[in-house]
Amino acid sequence: MKKTITTLAIVLLVVVVYSCKKHSDETTLTTGTVYLDLPPTVDNYHFADSGFASRNSNYVATLGRVLFYDSHLSLNNAISCGSCHKQSASFADNVAFSTGYEGRLTKRNSPMIANLLGDQPRSNVKSMNMIPLFWDGREILLTNLISRPVTNHVEMGIDDFNSLPSKLSALPYYSALFKNAYGDTQITSQRIADAVSVFIISIQSNNSRFDLFAKRLTSNMITSSSIAAAATGLLTTQELAGFNLFTNTYNCEGCHHIFTNFYSISDMRDIGLDAVYVDNGSGTITGDTYDNGKFKVPKLKNVALSAPYMHDGRYKTLDEVIDHYSHGIQNSPNLDRELTDSAGHPMQMNINDNNKQALIAFLQTMTDFDVVSDPKFANPFKVK
Ligand code: HEC
Ligand code: HEC
Repeated sequence: MKKTITTLAIVLLVVVVYSCKKHSDETTLTTGTVYLDLPPTVDNYHFADSGFASRNSNYVATLGRVLFYDSHLSLNNAISCGSCHKQSASFADNVAFSTGYEGRLTKRNSPMIANLLGDQPRSNVKSMNMIPLFWDGREILLTNLISRPVTNHVEMGIDDFNSLPSKLSALPYYSALFKNAYGDTQITSQRIADAVSVFIISIQSNNSRFDLFAKRLTSNMITSSSIAAAATGLLTTQELAGFNLFTNTYNCEGCHHIFTNFYSISDMRDIGLDAVYVDNGSGTITGDTYDNGKFKVPKLKNVALSAPYMHDGRYKTLDEVIDHYSHGIQNSPNLDRELTDSAGHPMQMNINDNNKQALIAFLQTMTDFDVVSDPKFANPFKVK
């Protein structure tokens, strides 16, 4: 009898403990009941190059990952950063304009997010102050940017970022995540912004065939034979031809710095999309008409995954993008000199079909399949 009671008590205890455990990270969203599926040991994020290595960065990034995918960051618990920045599209969106809070559309195309600090090793955090963010470069500090999606830039419906800590503290899973990351359970706006920034910075993409090719190249003198040697076994003849067209013939590299993926504030260009501007881009921010129609030069890493293209998602395919450069450049007021001929008219590159296919084939070598499948960057919320 005693034995039965003890057994019963143990069974009961196990059931109670199990159900408590089971419910500790559950939460109800408009999509249903979700729970967090995080690995028991923290993933090994890579920060060696970003100035974050000495911090408790793995735990901070893990917290940032949860925040990034948590719909509670929007007013109606329906939109998360991950709704518009989709891992499968290298953290871009696959529609021209993304849907935010209450079905409102964004004014511009969601850019892909990877290598925000560039590919080059950046040894101190101050370099973060240098990156132009958003299509018009209106933000240069990543931690400030984080509060913008939540409060205004893309309609997550929350007007006051400072109201988030109390909202989030009602959720069961955050106290442990904040404690692991910052040593205590306190939730502050600054910590939220910091953690999401650290997660985003950890999204580094450097395992495409192009990256492997570029790595080989840096260790050699760059000549046509060293380029051919570096391409051996990595790029097809067509892809290599595309690389040469990109870097030499059409000088795409003059604006798209594919070897560093790093851009400064001055990298705002007008590529002649419209003769009459629909969106003034950088000019909206600086108030200088000379900046009208200029937009940030996008990184081309994973470009084959992040269609549609341009700040307004006007081109559905890379084919259409090449057609623009080939014969579609408009005579816009601030058209970039790289894209005018000697008489100052819009350049007619007249890219023939062979060259077009080679350029596209080359752009496709920049796809890094690791980034889109890496569980470290995946949505940790699972629907029950
Ligand atoms: C409703 C869709 C949507 C949501 C939700 C959203 N974003 Fe964005 N994001 C965009 C769009 C659109 C842009 C470009 C806006 C512009 O340039 O004017 C952008 C730009 C960015 C950029 C700049 C990238 C660059 O290279 O310039 C970052 C970083 C970013 N978002 C991170 C986030 C984070 C973090 C969250 C969650 C807190 C978030 N976004 C939520 C759509 C969204
Ligand atoms: C004068 C600088 C400049 C040159 C030269 C240039 N680009 Fe661009 N490129 C840009 C800018 C700026 C954008 C974004 C424009 C916008 O959305 O308003 C862009 C956009 C793109 C995009 C779309 C990326 C995305 O994520 O939306 C692709 C692809 C591209 N360029 C490829 C090329 C190729 C291929 C060449 C050479 C034939 C080239 N570019 C030459 C500046 C340049």
